[in-house]
Amino acid sequence: MTTEAARPAHPDLRERVFGALTAARARTALLTDAVDERDLTAQHSPLMSPLVWDLAHIGNQEELWLLRRVAGREAMRPDIDPLYDAFEHPRAERPKLPLLGPAEARAYAAEVRGRVTDLLERTPLEGSPLLDTAFAFGMIAQHEQQHDETMLITHQLRSGPAVLTAPDPLVPAGPPPAAREVLVPAGPFTMGTSTEPWALDNERPAHPRTTAAFWIDTVPVTCGAYRAFIADGGYREPRWWAPEGWEQIRKHSIEAPLFWHREGEIWLRRRFGVTEPVPDAEPVLHVSWYEADAYARWAGRRLPTEAEWEKAARYDPATGLSRRYPWGDADPTPERANLGQRHLRPAPAGSYPAGASPLGVRQLIGDVWEWTASDFLPYPGFRAFPYREYSEVFFGPAHKVLRGGSFAVAPVACRGTFRNWDLPVRRQIFSGFRTARDA
Ligand code: AVJ
Ligand code: FE
Repeated sequence: MTTEAARPAHPDLRERVFGALTAARARTALLTDAVDERDLTAQHSPLMSPLVWDLAHIGNQEELWLLRRVAGREAMRPDIDPLYDAFEHPRAERPKLPLLGPAEARAYAAEVRGRVTDLLERTPLEGSPLLDTAFAFGMIAQHEQQHDETMLITHQLRSGPAVLTAPDPLVPAGPPPAAREVLVPAGPFTMGTSTEPWALDNERPAHPRTTAAFWIDTVPVTCGAYRAFIADGGYREPRWWAPEGWEQIRKHSIEAPLFWHREGEIWLRRRFGVTEPVPDAEPVLHVSWYEADAYARWAGRRLPTEAEWEKAARYDPATGLSRRYPWGDADPTPERANLGQRHLRPAPAGSYPAGASPLGVRQLIGDVWEWTASDFLPYPGFRAFPYREYSEVFFGPAHKVLRGGSFAVAPVACRGTFRNWDLPVRRQIFSGFRTARDA
């Protein structure tokens, strides 16, 4: 029951939170209802958890942050906490744990959500760092959507016939980009944010960065361009490769992006249970950092640094200010970016002219995660919030930064400042790249 007196102080914010949580749960339901119970509890790859683990982990994190930390409630199921702590059990071990079954996991997540919906109606959205502008709720909506991307990766790794479908992106409207690369001027810009309410700890604080002038690709590297690297013997030429990358491709006999195979002269790929010709016009997907780095060297170029990527995406030379997104400060729309699992593939390179940056760089947001040259490091003035295990424990040279989000990323978990990271050997993620060079 909501009384007039208990009415929210910020009705729009409350609606926005409710919308973000509801959208995340709809996607979780779709991804977990698409397969049968055996499939939900199976491990499709040692790199991934069973889908039923993600489902209960989503509920467990929501209970932990919103019902316990924000509302001060007792644990609903203290017995299951260790099972869903991502740091207690590596993914490969999770199928052997006494996990909640599909029905129990669904009921638990639904029970938590019911209580959270109730809490959202009555709790003030201010007065503490977790409550201010509903940060903890926004963090939890992003967390669920991040696991929805993880679950989509599990779907891509699972064998068997297709269970997910989505319409293909529309053919690009408007003229193709005028030039294949764009010059970004030398000078300072503002990197990171101190004002975006739901930005996570690693995106903070806003701080000045200076870059030299550089050129950056107008669009991500395509499958067609990448095929030229393969055809030129790129995977057999150690001089293009970082030593660890060369070691990895030799050890695992890697000679193309993950999910590609050749039949005669034709390259095919498997995408969510369907085998199809590799689409030359689409940004390349499922490459490791080492593959991206080797391609760039072969092309006489290099990966952009993280600061260069963000400057290309956010810096407006007309005002000197950094935007929330390449196109401005307005939220993403289907005309601006391929986000939110509306499509289950990137759009052809050159799509989304309405999403271009002031300098004319396209598809920075959505389509494919873009590997950068940079290690995942804290910004000056970083403070872990609200927990060290989100970002801080991953800082260091082991992880490389990816930027911009993929077709699998929800708008709520994607912005010009958003930072993702992974090991440089990883290629099951929805990763591509663009290249740069010094001016
Ligand atoms: C930011 C995608 C690297 O999946 O490991 C989910 C997100 N953190 N639950 C991950 C995350 C805690 C994280 N990445
Ligand atoms: Fe998680």
